[in-house]
Amino acid sequence: MTEHDHHHAHHHHPHGAVAHAAPPDADAAFDRASQASQPDPGRRVVGVELEARPMRRPIAPGAEFDAWGFNGRIPGPTLEADVGDVLEVRFTNRLPEATTIHWHGLRVPAPMDGTDMVQRPVAPGASLTYRFRLPDAGTFWYHPHMNEAVQIERGLYGPLIVRAGDEPALDGEQILVIDDLKLDSRGDLARFGGFVQWHDGREGDVRLINGAREPELSIAAGQIERWRIVNAASARYVRLSIGGAPFRILGTTGGLLEAPVEARDVLLVPAGRVDLAVGPFEEGEELAIEALPYGRATIKRRKTETFGTLRVGPARPSAAQIPDRLRSIPALADATATPTRTPDFGVKLTLRHGIQFAVNRETHHRDAPVRVGDLQIWDVVNSTMMDHPFHLHGFFFQVLSVNGKAPAWRSWEDVVNLPPKSTTRIAWMPDDRLGGWMYHCHILEHHAQGMMAHFDVVR
Ligand code: C2O
Ligand code: CU
Ligand code: CU
Repeated sequence: MTEHDHHHAHHHHPHGAVAHAAPPDADAAFDRASQASQPDPGRRVVGVELEARPMRRPIAPGAEFDAWGFNGRIPGPTLEADVGDVLEVRFTNRLPEATTIHWHGLRVPAPMDGTDMVQRPVAPGASLTYRFRLPDAGTFWYHPHMNEAVQIERGLYGPLIVRAGDEPALDGEQILVIDDLKLDSRGDLARFGGFVQWHDGREGDVRLINGAREPELSIAAGQIERWRIVNAASARYVRLSIGGAPFRILGTTGGLLEAPVEARDVLLVPAGRVDLAVGPFEEGEELAIEALPYGRATIKRRKTETFGTLRVGPARPSAAQIPDRLRSIPALADATATPTRTPDFGVKLTLRHGIQFAVNRETHHRDAPVRVGDLQIWDVVNSTMMDHPFHLHGFFFQVLSVNGKAPAWRSWEDVVNLPPKSTTRIAWMPDDRLGGWMYHCHILEHHAQGMMAHFDVVR
């Protein structure tokens, strides 16, 4: 597979050379990782079947279009297991093009990461069984890692929940997968490409929760629920509000915070997740689940937009218990630690392609290896005038500072927003999972242009 194929659906074709391809021993490494993945004592192997296939997707009365979904559903089925379980996903590709599945946020062995730099793509009609242990509790998600800007927009994404025994007990739980869709005037998927999509990333005016357009959710009066929220949109920043009511942030992309944080809105960048404690409300209340304005220097500006409505039904007793301390997260490093690397999220100017989003002025940058056990302190620079959501595969990091200022809380993350013209200092520790990894902007159109880098973890 060439970069040209990889980006065939995009307006800009970055280059004709192969930027990354699975090494020749990828199949053997995949089999070894599969066999080495065993559940912890007393834990299970959770087996699931996933099939990616075309489907007709109704979006409004009389309007449907050619979507792609896992098991005929958008979002795909919720995959659920406990910490220490092994997840075994028997995957079949019934799409007209090759694909892979990436387990976003999971600390899997490198060969299981589901990118086309660690595995051979799954060809149309072919199958592949992913198998890995689940080391961490949290709200994760899965999505293809080839031609993502098209495959994810068409509907290939699903939530993946890993539970631990010692989590706060709330009255109920809802999973909200947020997305938007760009349709044309006939109700079909709008054309991919063009300058605005290339620059802003693709944003649509059809706003979805769990695949439904502005749905109604409900909650019992008096109860407090855990809402696990995933932003699966290609490019949209969702500054989420629930009718302006206060809620408590319990967790972010890498699991629980140390203590709940009270807020009235929270920013979900593309690929971002939060776990919230929502409620209690009074019977009869109706709250708008909406995205407040967030300026990220796009060509198209957005105002407050509704994603759904929350209706409060008859009261039910509450047994919710949210402790003041959720867990402790030891600091990996001090904010004054000396950076070991300074990746630059910026642009590259070429005669052939004009301006492209890039890392270290190179599209599909090849970064230097990191060594197991060598603490990484990265000053991630955004030298552009717009925000970019930085995502590191396979490892959680801590944010030490943003423009020299400490963040509001300490947490484990796999995604962090890079504000315009900023430096975000992160710390992470490469463990014994040798192989090829990557980091990239999770605005899918920026990633496709090459605002990404790969590197190896070596001994
Ligand atoms: Cu959601 Cu390369 O990732
Ligand atoms: Cu790439
Ligand atoms: Cu970007």
